[in-house]
Parts: sequence; C-alpha cells; structure tokens
Amino acid sequence: VALVASAASAQVQPFQQQLYIPPVLQGPEVTLEMVEADVQLLPTGPPTRMWTYNGNFPGPTIRRPAGEPTQLAVRNRLPATFGEATLHNHGGHSASSEDGQADSFLIPSGGMRTYTYEHMERGEPERAAMQWYHDHRMDLTGRNVWNGLAGLFILDDEVEAALDLPSGEFDIPLVLADRSFDEQNQIPYVFNPLGTVGDTILVNGRPQPHFNVGDRKYRLRLLNASNRLPYAVELSNGQPMHQIATESGLLPAPVERHQIVLGPGERVEVVIDFAGHLGEEIVLRAVGGGGGMVVGGDVLQFRVDRDLIDDSALPATLRPIPDFGEVSVTREFSLDFADDMWTINGLPFDPERFDAEPALDSTERWIFTNNTEQSHTIHIHDVDWLLEHRDGQPPPAWENALKETWFIEPNETISLITTFTGHTGAYVFHCHMLEHEDMMMMAQFNVLPGTE
Ligand code: C2O
Ligand code: CU
Repeated sequence: VALVASAASAQVQPFQQQLYIPPVLQGPEVTLEMVEADVQLLPTGPPTRMWTYNGNFPGPTIRRPAGEPTQLAVRNRLPATFGEATLHNHGGHSASSEDGQADSFLIPSGGMRTYTYEHMERGEPERAAMQWYHDHRMDLTGRNVWNGLAGLFILDDEVEAALDLPSGEFDIPLVLADRSFDEQNQIPYVFNPLGTVGDTILVNGRPQPHFNVGDRKYRLRLLNASNRLPYAVELSNGQPMHQIATESGLLPAPVERHQIVLGPGERVEVVIDFAGHLGEEIVLRAVGGGGGMVVGGDVLQFRVDRDLIDDSALPATLRPIPDFGEVSVTREFSLDFADDMWTINGLPFDPERFDAEPALDSTERWIFTNNTEQSHTIHIHDVDWLLEHRDGQPPPAWENALKETWFIEPNETISLITTFTGHTGAYVFHCHMLEHEDMMMMAQFNVLPGTE
C-alpha cells in the first residue's frame, strides 16, 4: 500500500485566520466534558463536526504547578456509538490506575471517571514539561484522536520560573496535526494500516494561520499530534531556533537548530528571537513525509508588527539530567511486521502478558531495533529515559536529554536507560503512530515491588 500525495483538501487563503489558542484550565479540580461539537476549523464554509473535550479542538490546555495534585474529572457525553473512553496524560508520572489504561478503568458511555495526578516523580515535584492528554481506547486510538480527542497539559515549576524564559503571552503552544477535509469541511476517518494521513497540516486545529508577534523572544512549544506523519520543521528565513526542551522538560543547555524532525507524540520547545525583524513576515514550515509521501509546506506565518521590550532570558545552561546509576538488567525489543500486524518482539498486544517486569527503583537498559521498512515512534509510559546511543553513535545534543518518545527509522537501533521510580503496576509502551498501536504494536511492563 502506498501513501499517496495529493493537493491540500482545505482550499484556504494562506495566513487569513488568526492562530487559535485553546482556553487554559488551571484549578486543582478540572472537568473535561467529552461532547460532539461543531468547530470552525476552516475560515469559510461549514464547521467541522468533531469529538471534543469541552467543545474545543485542540482540547483546553490544562496548566498546573508540579507537585500539587490535580483531580481531572472526565465525562463521556459522546453518542452511545462512540463507546467507552479512556484518557491518558502522555508524559505524566501517574499511578497505573490513573494512567488511562487502554482496556481497563474505562469511562462508560454516559458515565464519568476522575483521574488523580500527584505530579510527583523521584520523590520530588515532576519536572516542568509540556505533556498532552488524549484518548487511548484499545484498537480505536487512531479514530478517536483524529476526530478531536487531544489537548495539552503543561506543568510549571520553580526551577523553570527562576530562568526567566519568555512567559505569559510570549509562551505559545503549537499543536501540529494533519487532516483531510471533504467538500462539506468534514474529516471522515479512514483507517490505513500503514497509518492514517491527512493532506493538510493544521496548527492548533487550523490550516495556515498567522500570529502577530513583537520583536523579542518567544517560547514556542511544539507537539506533533498527527496519527502517522513525522514532520520536519524550519523557519523560512533560515534563522535558528534555540531548542530548550524535549517532551520531558528542559535540556541541560539550549541547542541551536535549523530543522527539527518530530515523530508523532514527540514535543520540542524552542525560543525564537524576532529582534531585528520588525516589519518582516517569517513562516514556519512543516513538511510531513513518509512512505514516498510529502505534505505541508507553509503552516504558520509570524507577523513581526510591534516594537517590544524584551525582559526574558535564554540562559546558557538550563537543567541537568538526573543520574540513573548502574544498569542491572538489559532487555531487547524488536519492532516487526508479522502476520499482517505491527508487533513488538513478534507478538501482538495481549492484556494478560507482561514483556518486562522491572523492580521498583532498579535501573534498566532497553534496546529497540526497527526491523520494518517503516519508521516508528516508540513511546514508553510512566518514566523518562536517557538515550545512550542510536546505532552505536552517541546521541545529538537535543537527544542527550530525558525523553519518553523517540523516532526510529527503518533498521535503526536505539538504546535507552531509566530507573523505575515512584509506582508499581502495569503500564504500556507502544508505537505512537496510532494505527500501528491500534494494529497491536503495543506491549506492557509491570513494575514489581523491590526485593530489599
Ligand atoms: Cu500518547 Cu500511550 O500515548
Ligand atoms: Cu509504528
């Protein structure tokens, strides 16, 4: 099966719409209502019927201080045909029962469930980071996310606040995802076993918006929320972006980048300085490709239209990586295509099987080898990891960092280490190309109480 390139289905005048910023929810008790809603994604024509959290796409941004618990109540008010729901906060370090398991602790149709997040890790407040929540229902994650069930969850902390990075109106989330529109502006989901791909890249749910900025530094938080496509992101004028964070928060030091590749589920945070560009229009380009297909191009226009004082900083050092100590166990996992399914170690997902049983507080090395002709993004729940090498080579500076999602090209091998702290119990790891996950490229590990 070939992924086929086509012209963007959303015929919009470029840069007409303003960038949409989802509403922010901040209290210790947050409610998300899963409802069908008409969302005006395109500037002209009818709205798009979607499955949403609180009527928004992307869903509201939940923003909380690390170390203070959050009660997240989720009500499933979607039509009965939607079925049961589950919400996973991707990047969170939550107890197994609160992790949004694919096939247990479900939210029944018409029912609700409250998730409790302690926002603690290694006995300390979790590291500030941009996490994201999305539906994680067994076999149906691709369909459910495509139709709108995803939003951001930003954690702040004092370590980060002390750095004076751009904040407030200068701290902007950018959720990238592709969709295809029909003549009625609808986005019917068509399952593709290689991964479902749209022909139009959206930024915060809208095609080719513009964003008015001042001539100063901005912090941009990028998420690739697509079902299948990795994106390569760059600026039209060739100016560098200073990467400051991964999905697991701040890097040890900023890294200058001209092009950034993001697999589905990956995040980066960058500081872009528009000083000296007053009066210019600078375009963020994102090109998505894979399996011979390319979509995208210009996705967001920055209009540098005002002179502003810049009191923010881009410090030379940010946040050190914790020490994981000695590795006690090494495990190997292969990504395969077997019996018409995407698999891990040749085995389809089985809720009764655990493929690893690490002891609490032990340090392990997990090695993943991609034996397929497609790229994948491996995401591991519960803990953050350090990449030791890719194909035996030391990682580039931007990957020499804590992360929980990695893009893996065909025939590539990555080696990761972590310490399993905080929680015992079952968690999943899987490909974040959502149709691969739905077609069984998912497995479980079970953290056992330590022996001491
Ligand atoms: Cu973003 Cu297991 O998922
Ligand atoms: Cu995959």
